[in-house]
Amino acid sequence: MRTICIMNHKGGVAKTTTAVNLAAGLSRQDKHVLLVDMDPQSNIALSLDVKANFTMYDALTGNVPIENCIVTLAKNFDVITSKETLVKAEYYLSNQSNSHLLLKDVLGSLKGYDFILVDCPPSLGILNQNILAFCKEIFVPTSTDFLGFDALKKMRLIVSKINESYGHDIKITKVIPTLFDRRSKICKETLREMHEAFPKLVSSPIRTNSKLKEAPKYGKSIFKYAKSSPGAKDYGKLVEEVLAMGSLRIVEEVIQS
Ligand SMILES: Nc1ncnc2c1ncn2[C@@H]1O[C@H](COP(=O)(O)OP(=O)(O)O)[C@@H](O)[C@H]1O
Ligand SMILES: [Mg+2]
Repeated sequence: MRTICIMNHKGGVAKTTTAVNLAAGLSRQDKHVLLVDMDPQSNIALSLDVKANFTMYDALTGNVPIENCIVTLAKNFDVITSKETLVKAEYYLSNQSNSHLLLKDVLGSLKGYDFILVDCPPSLGILNQNILAFCKEIFVPTSTDFLGFDALKKMRLIVSKINESYGHDIKITKVIPTLFDRRSKICKETLREMHEAFPKLVSSPIRTNSKLKEAPKYGKSIFKYAKSSPGAKDYGKLVEEVLAMGSLRIVEEVIQS
């Protein structure tokens, strides 16, 4: 089982868009996927039109077992949503001993998935600390512009500091260039710089595509909403690249070589 968080402390860089469409795409390739929303903005429930009786807040605060929060959307595709109450969970967590390990306890009991993907809030608070303690891999969606690249470099520093402080060994295993426009000079320059700074880790870019903006309004992934769009092609390619990474052991060999 691969546990991957879609993280960047910068907002608006396509974390949620990537989490939703990567999860949907992997499940369509016969992988058993659980998508978990850890952002109190609760965009996953909206983006995939999920009605859930219980959310991540209920599981984290011990109100219900985690299994009761899971909603099956399609064959191989399960989701746990959040809502704005997750903000209260931050307060709850901060009053627990081992406050950064609660998510690991809660999700650690789940078995049988090929992938657990976690959509993260754009902050570095206790929710993200919990996510970093649970996941083994980080995918960093990065907008292909100057400020986006700056955030990516800061993410690398943050991850190494957090690993040092908490004794984790979580790794950035994919950098995903987003909002890419091949006619734009800054996009092309930034993509080149990303390849130089993160050799072997940068995926094919995700182009700016209006269908990706529209799909959440209809509660559908890009593969259901507009399967022939550039957005579906780009996320389809990302799915293939993620599957080609194989096991985490192979990923580690690539990083070390
Ligand atoms: N490739 C893309 N093309 C066009 N719009 C996009 C693309 N990726 C994301 N968006 C839009 O950009 C906005 C921010 O994306 P979102 O996934 O919510 O970012 P984050 O979760 O990082 O805050 C949303 O309106 C989303 O629809
Ligand atoms: Mg988001």
